[in-house]
Amino acid sequence: MTTELWTSVDHYFAGKILHGDEALEQALVANTAAGLPAIDVSPLQGKLLHLLVRMNRARRVLEVGTLGGYSAIWLASALPGDGQLVTLELEPHHAEVARLNVARAGLAARVDIRVGPALGSLDALIAAGGEPFDLVFIDADKPSNPDYFTRALALTHPGSVIVVDNVVRGGRVADAASTDAAVVGVRRLHDLIASEARVTATAIQTVGTKGHDGFTIALVTG
Ligand code: SAH
Ligand code: DHB
Ligand code: MG
Repeated sequence: MTTELWTSVDHYFAGKILHGDEALEQALVANTAAGLPAIDVSPLQGKLLHLLVRMNRARRVLEVGTLGGYSAIWLASALPGDGQLVTLELEPHHAEVARLNVARAGLAARVDIRVGPALGSLDALIAAGGEPFDLVFIDADKPSNPDYFTRALALTHPGSVIVVDNVVRGGRVADAASTDAAVVGVRRLHDLIASEARVTATAIQTVGTKGHDGFTIALVTG
């Protein structure tokens, strides 16, 4: 089995049950034109994020790692009119591209893009003591996953959902001897989840246009 086959299956499902969305497609074109890496979630994965927001009736969503705003559009378009997405991005250029993409999608009023190292933005959110988030999507630098997850716990409530992208690393997550910083970060995240009484979680491997990948999905229980 190959990424080629997985891609054709992704195209089958996407062609069948995703309705082409002009703003989402334009965002990918704009990202490429602006030189951003094509590491956005896939369309079917974006729809999963969208459905998780709706299934959880989330009103406040937090994203770590905006890139060009492709996943942000999937998340924000699932929110009610008074909902809000706060999304954190290190690179000013990425954030600027995202701002334009989100505006083109008609979602500017619902999306708050904060530029800077996510750890600093998360600590500022914690210090500000605002309303908790109902769903958090962690998708930035993988070595910082444990730090982001700890902050996410401080910013959520029982019933909130925390989703972490790219936890499989092409299967290398199972290699306890790996010295790859991303693999080490993902493994430390799962050590943390294993020892954290306030969450219950699963991890789902995915195949598709992004190869062999996966999500960890945690429910905050206490
Ligand atoms: N969620 C996006 C993809 C994010 S790619 C989507 O699916 O459309 C990862 C992003 O995290 C990149 O834009 C990168 O610049 C950003 N990033 C990396 N390190 C970061 C940090 N320390 N703080 C905030 N963002 C960071
Ligand atoms: C990478 C980052 C991602 O968030 C992703 O979904 C795929 C790849 C990367 O840094 O290579
Ligand atoms: Mg990702």
